[in-house]
Amino acid sequence: MIAVDIASDLDRVLHTEQQVLTRIAEVAAQIDADYEGREPLIVGVLNGAMMTVSDLTRAMTSHCEVDWMAVSSYGSGTRSSGVVRILKDLTTDISGRHVLIAEDIVDTGLTLSYLVKNLRNREPASLEVMTMFRKPDAMTCPVNLKYVGFDIPNEFVVGYGLDYSGRYRNLRDVATLAPHVYS
Ligand code: PRP
Repeated sequence: MIAVDIASDLDRVLHTEQQVLTRIAEVAAQIDADYEGREPLIVGVLNGAMMTVSDLTRAMTSHCEVDWMAVSSYGSGTRSSGVVRILKDLTTDISGRHVLIAEDIVDTGLTLSYLVKNLRNREPASLEVMTMFRKPDAMTCPVNLKYVGFDIPNEFVVGYGLDYSGRYRNLRDVATLAPHVYS
């Protein structure tokens, strides 16, 4: 779906599908250049990163492999406990591999700071992070992000893999939700 299909659910479009694809092609070119001669293993974080990984890897002109993890924050119903649980682990042994984590969004940074620590313990040859979106005003856990698609405001944002209550992941554009949807 595109933004006009669900216009009454949305406040404003932050980035159109075309803007997202143009930006992801730029990031892919940078990754191709940086990883020349070192085939990266792209680790997508389910579910949100499905679009990012799909478009990023197809925009790359060099070889890569893809694997997936699923994680969940829990504890008192909030992310603030700092506890992250692995729901689905990698199938690949990443020891000695050049690993690039791919995320749809970094909000507080909690998920990624856990993932980076967890994967670093498995002794990859290198470990970097790419995120399509970052909310600078929401970050509480500092994480070193090598590749960032766009910085976005600290609002309810949906589309391109980002959901609200399970919906809107299949929105091609990236938009803020209208308050009546979540209030
Ligand atoms: C989202 C997103 C990141 C995480 C970022 O996942 O995909 O993994 O939140 O938030 P943080 O920086 O505050 O940790 P979510 O838990 O919503 O699951 P999803 O990927 O299935 O949407």
